[in-house]
Amino acid sequence: MISFSEGPSDGPFPSRPASPRGTDDPTRSARGSSDRGGPAQPLLLVRELRKFFKMRSGLFEREKRQVRAVDGVSFNVAKGETLGIVGESGCGKSTTARLIARLMSPDSGELVFDGDGVGQFGGMALKDFRRNLQMVFQDSFASLNPRLTMLETVAYGPQIHGVSKVEAIARAEALLARVGLAPDHFGNRYPHELSGGQRQRVNIARALAFEPRLLILDEAVAALDKSVQAQVLNLLQELKAERNLTYVFISHDLHVVHYLADRVMVMYLGQVVEIGPVKPLYETPRHPYTRALLSAVPSMDPAHRTERSPLSGDPPNPINPPSGCRFRDRCPQAHARCAVEMPLLRETTGGHFAACHLDELP
Ligand SMILES: Nc1ncnc2c1ncn2[C@@H]1O[C@H](COP(=O)(O)OP(=O)(O)OP(=O)(O)O)[C@@H](O)[C@H]1O
Ligand code: SF4
Ligand SMILES: [Mg+2]
Repeated sequence: MISFSEGPSDGPFPSRPASPRGTDDPTRSARGSSDRGGPAQPLLLVRELRKFFKMRSGLFEREKRQVRAVDGVSFNVAKGETLGIVGESGCGKSTTARLIARLMSPDSGELVFDGDGVGQFGGMALKDFRRNLQMVFQDSFASLNPRLTMLETVAYGPQIHGVSKVEAIARAEALLARVGLAPDHFGNRYPHELSGGQRQRVNIARALAFEPRLLILDEAVAALDKSVQAQVLNLLQELKAERNLTYVFISHDLHVVHYLADRVMVMYLGQVVEIGPVKPLYETPRHPYTRALLSAVPSMDPAHRTERSPLSGDPPNPINPPSGCRFRDRCPQAHARCAVEMPLLRETTGGHFAACHLDELP
């Protein structure tokens, strides 16, 4: 059983964290001052993001095939919140993250960061946007340069942004200490000399060295043992409060997302099917897919456990998704309209949206 905090569990999912510790850390960022639009202005607006991967056609294939990895995804991320992104493997979570981080170019779509259009004329230059946003990936080893020590790794970011070597090393030492790695002990080690949990702490320190405002964590704790995972999650919560950070947290683990996220976005086959505050979304999921996804998770509380997952079969091929609602082949409530009309996101209760044709969403 997973336990992320010492408090009692609040039903089928683990307890949400207690208030973070104080903010007297010397490595704390002064980034709060870079807030331009105030708390009401979303930190990030994502509008109609699209990415289709073209598949190599066979010699005699006339039709060009493409994977609709991300197909018209729109959402906001508020300042200081953690937005969880969930959905089955292949639904487009990582592609969405990479598009936002501009590790790949979208086919279309718009990003607005704290009121400024990213890469637009008169907006925010791509290089400034990239400094404000950092990513942490699942594979802690592949993310690190095997030829750099941990100190050099963390100091690298500030150095390429013009900070002197002495200052960058001093910052790196403070950051390593802050993520729980004594610089005297770990600073001169190489990635292969650390455990997975320690490497992921270095990856977090390296990301923070850029003083970002937004961290995208793509399955960042998925490869860690449960106990190490809990420590890293708690560290992330503390860092977020200390440094006024905002998180986009991608995970297969619905327990972890429940623990960490303020709001949750559910993706299915390249689209958003539901988004809303964590509590109502977990307690009264509106979309049949979200309901199926949540019932498939073994509950933390034996009284809440369901015997069978109502989610049957695999997701359809993203090269040729079903017409209308993409979930219709697997949906127990599918009806005629679902085959001809794609449902749009509509608000059910305050800030809780679902894309489904059912008249009465539960
Ligand atoms: N570079 C690529 N070329 C072709 N297809 C790709 C590429 N990257 C991703 N895809 C496809 O796009 C779809 C979405 O992939 P993505 O990695 O975003 O899913 P995911 O939700 O992150 O899955 P997982 O939970 O397994 O990490 C999948 O069908 C995948 O096969
Ligand atoms: S739109 Fe139709 S097929 Fe899609 S989730 Fe709703 S009821 Fe099911
Ligand atoms: Mg992924």
